[in-house]
Amino acid sequence: MKHIVLLNPKGGCGKTTIATHIAVYASTMGLRVALADHDKQQSSHDWLKSRPRRCADIGAIAAYDGEPLEGEYDVMVHDMPAAAVGDQLAVASVCDKLIIPITPSPIDIKAALRLWVTLSNIGWLDNPNMEIGMIANRVKANTKYLETFDSFIQRTNITRIATLRDTQNYIRSLDAGLSLFDLPPSRVANDLAQWQPIMEWTGLFDMEDEELLSMMGLEDDFEPTADKFVSLEEMHQEQQQDEADHYTDTYE
Ligand SMILES: Nc1ncnc2c1ncn2[C@@H]1O[C@H](COP(=O)(O)OP(=O)(O)O)[C@@H](O)[C@H]1O
Ligand SMILES: [Mg+2]
Repeated sequence: MKHIVLLNPKGGCGKTTIATHIAVYASTMGLRVALADHDKQQSSHDWLKSRPRRCADIGAIAAYDGEPLEGEYDVMVHDMPAAAVGDQLAVASVCDKLIIPITPSPIDIKAALRLWVTLSNIGWLDNPNMEIGMIANRVKANTKYLETFDSFIQRTNITRIATLRDTQNYIRSLDAGLSLFDLPPSRVANDLAQWQPIMEWTGLFDMEDEELLSMMGLEDDFEPTADKFVSLEEMHQEQQQDEADHYTDTYE
C-alpha cells in the first residue's frame, strides 16, 4: 500500500481539499482507496459522509480517534491536522509521498519556511525513500506574493508539483460531498488541467499525459480559457438528476 500524506501545520492551506481530491481520483481510476482523517475537526470524514451514493467508493479511517492505519487498500491518503508538526512526524515518516500545500500569502510562506527548516533538520529532505513536493494552492492571478513564493520554492529546492487557482468550484463541490472529478469535466476543465501534474507526481497511475487528460474527459490539445464557473444551483440540479438516475437504474 502506498501512503500519501498532506502535511502543513498551517490551517486553511488546502490539505483536506487536496487529500479528498486525490482520494476521489484514485478511486475513480479503480484503486482501492482509504482516506485517513487525522484531524479532530473531521473535515474529510464529514465530507465522506456527505458524499452522494453514486460517487466513487472511498474507505474511511478515523485516525483522529486512533483507528489503525490498515486495511486492504492500494493507497491511503492522510489528511493531517493543523497542529505542531512534531506530533505528525510518525505518520509522515512512513509515507511514500509528502505533499505540502501552501497558499502564497506572507503568513503561509513564513510558516512553510519553518516547516522546511524542521524537515531539513530531521534529514527528510535528503531521504531518498520519500518524495516531498509543494502545491501552490488558492493562487490568484497577479498575486504579488507569488514572486515571494517562487523565490521561496527556489531556495528550498523542494519540487513544485502544481499550481491550483483560487476558485469557488472547490468550496462548492466539497460542500456538496463532491470533488471536481465528480462534476462534468467541461464545467471545470480549467481546474482539471491543473490537476494533471499532481496525478503524475503521485506515481499511482502508470499513464501517459494524453491518457490522464482523456481520463479526465479532456482532450490532449486542451487549453485553459475563460473561467468556467459552476453555480451551486446547477451543481445541485445535476446531483439530484444523477441521484434520480441512479435510483431508476438500481431500483426500477
Ligand atoms: N484552490 C482553492 N480555491 C478556493 N478555495 C479553496 C481552494 N483550496 C481550498 N479552498 C478552501 O479553503 C478552505 C480551507 O481549505 P482546507 O482544504 O480545508 O485546508 P486545510 O485542510 O489545510 O485546513 C476550505 O473552505 C476550502 O474549500
Ligand atoms: Mg483540513
